[in-house]
Amino acid sequence: MPDIHVVILAAGQGTRMKSALPKVVHPIAGQPMIEHVLRTAGSVAPATITLVVGHHAEAIQGFLEGRQGLQFVRQVPQLGTAHALQQAEALLAGRTGTLVLLSGDVPLLRAATLGRLIERHHAAAAAATVVTALVERPYGYGRIIRSGGRIARIVEERDASSAERRVKEINSGIYAFDLLPLFDALREVRSRNVQGEYYLTDLIAVYRRHKLPVETLVVDDPREILGVNSRRELAEVSAIMRQTKNEELMAAGVTIIDPASTYIDPDVVVGADTVIHPGVVIQGHSRIGAACEIHAYVRIADTELADRVTIHNFCLIVGARVADGAAIGPFAHLRPSTEIGQGAKIGNFVELKKTVLGAGSKANHLSYLGDATIGANVNVGAGTITCNYDGQKKHETVIEDGAFIGSDTQLIAPVRVGKGAYVAAGSSITGDVPPGALGIGRGRQVNVEGWVERKKAAPAKT
Ligand code: UD1
Ligand code: CA
Repeated sequence: MPDIHVVILAAGQGTRMKSALPKVVHPIAGQPMIEHVLRTAGSVAPATITLVVGHHAEAIQGFLEGRQGLQFVRQVPQLGTAHALQQAEALLAGRTGTLVLLSGDVPLLRAATLGRLIERHHAAAAAATVVTALVERPYGYGRIIRSGGRIARIVEERDASSAERRVKEINSGIYAFDLLPLFDALREVRSRNVQGEYYLTDLIAVYRRHKLPVETLVVDDPREILGVNSRRELAEVSAIMRQTKNEELMAAGVTIIDPASTYIDPDVVVGADTVIHPGVVIQGHSRIGAACEIHAYVRIADTELADRVTIHNFCLIVGARVADGAAIGPFAHLRPSTEIGQGAKIGNFVELKKTVLGAGSKANHLSYLGDATIGANVNVGAGTITCNYDGQKKHETVIEDGAFIGSDTQLIAPVRVGKGAYVAAGSSITGDVPPGALGIGRGRQVNVEGWVERKKAAPAKT
């Protein structure tokens, strides 16, 4: 197999995005657009990957800094796609094999399609192979002009005659090239067109003049090669990516009640028989187990749910781990480094941060538990607050197995409540409660007999 060298074009201005951000870092399904392209590029085990940058070059390079095996070349000024590819010549000098050209703004291309492109290109011993698609609305794309069935040239929308504009086979902007004749042939491309640019698409006619074999690969699903030039297309491409993910999950046994309102990032894993209600967002590297139920309007990011977990409505869960059979919400907030034990319950208006809650424990109402280690079968009463912050440092609270924390308790950390201990409701606990003890930390109640009558009888003070 000849070496594969990938070049990705991303030097254009992206004018139609009307954005201060470079087009290729706009997120699609939780990842910058260029990440999707890089991932697809990586699937063919390339010897090199080169990104051609120009507009917003620093921003894009900053974004991808430290990325293994990625090299950058600058295109200044930006004189068209052929000119952009020429900038990679110095880096690829002396190399042989296949150059695969991708566009930074075509993020839906599948690895399988790229594999087929390379296969077709090699099998046909072609000098160039162009990925094309048949579409109903070819407007804006370069058109594939064939003669005797074979590709003869590509004409851009702006330069096309009205007959050429009726052609429904379009150029995807994705190609495989044999490196040997490529850079010499690029020098023959002229800029005699409406935009005065050096079009890579003109290389096809150059090759045909030199009798170099040019092949095409028509994709089955034209949505794969959609380019993102505007916010409208960004939304369209995002929707397709989401739909693809939802369909994959449903095929694997997940119930998604309303796919149109369900947003699941590509890397999320969901087990069979899990039910996902409308308005759910699952992001990042979340892993959801089997037979879970996630009710409406929940956002989960970078979180692991084991099996049979229930998430009630309106929860925000970020960077947490939830064990088998636990139930969360409604209206709960699990923040990073929270671990919920098996069968544990978190109820409404409960917030946890960097807290471990043991198996079978409950915090059912109105609590803040931060920097706490809570054992198994602990009952955390309504309104319990770990006072973990003294204005400078965070302090830890430990509650041992089987303890009972009465409602409206403040645990002033650092503090420890021993195994099986009780804390009386309304306590401010400032010192440790030994195992098996009752901790009470509040003023005693005083009843003043006859107070109301005396108040009424007393003359009003002025
Ligand atoms: C290009 C193709 C068109 C194809 C379409 C598919 C050309 C002349 N036209 O048109 O046939 O149907 O893609 O999406 O190739 N770029 C640079 N430097 C430049 C100009 C562009 O790096 O000087 C980059 C852009 O950042 C972008 C890619 O090349 O990633 C394509 O450029 P764009 O201006 O979007 O071309 P299209 O008009 O979409
Ligand atoms: Ca484009």
